[in-house]
Amino acid sequence: MAPRIDVYDPSVYERSGIPFAQLTWLRENSPVHWHPDPEGPGFWAVTRYADVVAVSRAPEVFSSQRRSALLHELTPEGLATNQMIMLSQDPPLHTRTRSLVSRGFTPRMIARLEDRIRAICHEMVDRVIEQGSADFVGDLAAPLPLHVICELMGAPAADRDAIFTWSNQAIGADDPEYEGADGTMALFGYAMELGARHRTEPLDGIMGALLEETAEGRALTEEEFGMFVVLLAVAGNETTRNAASGGMLAFSRHPAQWRRLQADRSLLETAPDEIVRWVTPVNAFRRTATRDTEIGGHPIAENDKVIVFYAAANRDPEAFDEPDVFDIGRPPGTHVGFGGGGPHFCLGSHLARLELRVLFETLLDRTPDIALSAEPRRLRSSFVNGIKEMPVTFTPG
Ligand code: HEM
Repeated sequence: MAPRIDVYDPSVYERSGIPFAQLTWLRENSPVHWHPDPEGPGFWAVTRYADVVAVSRAPEVFSSQRRSALLHELTPEGLATNQMIMLSQDPPLHTRTRSLVSRGFTPRMIARLEDRIRAICHEMVDRVIEQGSADFVGDLAAPLPLHVICELMGAPAADRDAIFTWSNQAIGADDPEYEGADGTMALFGYAMELGARHRTEPLDGIMGALLEETAEGRALTEEEFGMFVVLLAVAGNETTRNAASGGMLAFSRHPAQWRRLQADRSLLETAPDEIVRWVTPVNAFRRTATRDTEIGGHPIAENDKVIVFYAAANRDPEAFDEPDVFDIGRPPGTHVGFGGGGPHFCLGSHLARLELRVLFETLLDRTPDIALSAEPRRLRSSFVNGIKEMPVTFTPG
């Protein structure tokens, strides 16, 4: 009997005990599984690595634009707004947007942020080091990507608290603590203003570059810029936060890997990818079939919804040796934590890796004996494998 997958149930993604029990069951017994959904149209749950990759790389058959890449059904109004964001666009519209924004996210552009990210990590540790304890999420993992987004935006320091609040509201919509507040619109309005201000006071760095015309005469409009900032706040924040928190949790459950990293810092190059595979901060995205087709031999009808479960694919023994072993020396590059390799492959993957590398390097230097002092509290979300709170202790320094 197939288990009922509740995509809003945080226990689906709980890593302790048997990891991903329901998703593992599906991958092994019913890898392309029809899941009726009383609140929506139902969907095919795709859980095998090879199928997740195949769906991700065929945007002409599995569309992000026809309905939405997000798991929720959207109203027609919501759908129109949603498709202004590249995550829910198909080629050729997506290709145009992606080419405009990707010039800001090349490994070279991102590498320039390293010193600033290191300074942010040290500032965060400075704030808690004397007390010998912290909430890993609230004090370290959450502020880091938020600071980095502010940095990318070139937002004045005085605006940071507001940006923090709006971003939290924008990403926490599933969670009762954040219900009701429209952080998305506030952030969009703010970014539009910032884009307009750029005409007289140019923004530095990546975001400034997106508002400057290229040789072919193309730049983001203020509205596109606003949408892109909203996407960054959603795509870059909770993901990185939960990769960092989930990584810390993994190290606490596998202390030999923490000692290994301490003894061999060159593993800081591969550890971020293993953390992203292990944690899989983004559980799943949705596609809609544009015509009758098949996945792994299963017929799929036009307009059927298909949800690719990265979490299940990242533990597929056909793709990884000993997938249930957390091994920070595992060769990077094949997991689907940043997507299955299609046109939507995570734009921020270089930035996310850099943030994780510098954060854990800073912790090895400043709080080498960091350890969990209580079990983490999880976020109820259909989108991210979230940790809300995770108390840690370390020797004050
Ligand atoms: C897309 C994961 C960090 C920006 C995605 C996708 C995934 C993902 C799974 C969809 C891929 C697909 O549909 O094939 C993650 C994870 C992160 C992370 C696990 C952290 C560990 C970031 C950061 C940024 C970012 C730091 C930027 C600041 C984006 C954008 C897209 C995206 C803009 C949409 C790309 C497109 O539609 O072309 N990410 N992400 N992400 N991510 Fe990330």
